[in-house]
Amino acid sequence: MTYQEIAYPAEKTAFYTLLLEQLQAYTAAAPTPVAALANSAAVLGAALSDINWAGFYLVRGESLVLGPFQGKPAVMVIPDGQGVCGAAWREKKAQVVDDVHRFAGHIACDCLSRSEIAVPVFAPDGAVRAILDIDSPLPGRFDADDAAGLQKVAALIAPFVRET
Ligand code: SME
Repeated sequence: MTYQEIAYPAEKTAFYTLLLEQLQAYTAAAPTPVAALANSAAVLGAALSDINWAGFYLVRGESLVLGPFQGKPAVMVIPDGQGVCGAAWREKKAQVVDDVHRFAGHIACDCLSRSEIAVPVFAPDGAVRAILDIDSPLPGRFDADDAAGLQKVAALIAPFVRET
């Protein structure tokens, strides 16, 4: 399989439509859940502009555990409710953080990160099974349109997360 480079549009609705198509293509034949999540992190890392980390934290008991990602090495275990990812898990709601330095309890992995979005990945019963987390070196990189687009991404990859 050769990765197909796409000129992504700046307009976010069109961007996320293309992104979902590409994610579908690079996960459809995944032989294992990890393969699907690894390719998803790679597609997100290649497609999104101005980001320095994109990947998954998987719910394991009372913690979030590092899954496939693109970026610098990151914290491997996030206890329940801690950090931006823990807030997304606890509140079952996407967290859009314009300035991570102003988010009490933010867990710094890459000191270049300035803004962040964390989106829950839900099981069919409504439980959070993982968090899709993306960091940017720019303040205010993410908005409500990104949250809406990435919630669709989370829904697309949810079946793979259930199987890990
Ligand atoms: N900043 C996150 C931790 C994960 S790293 O950004 C990859 C948090 O506060 O939950």
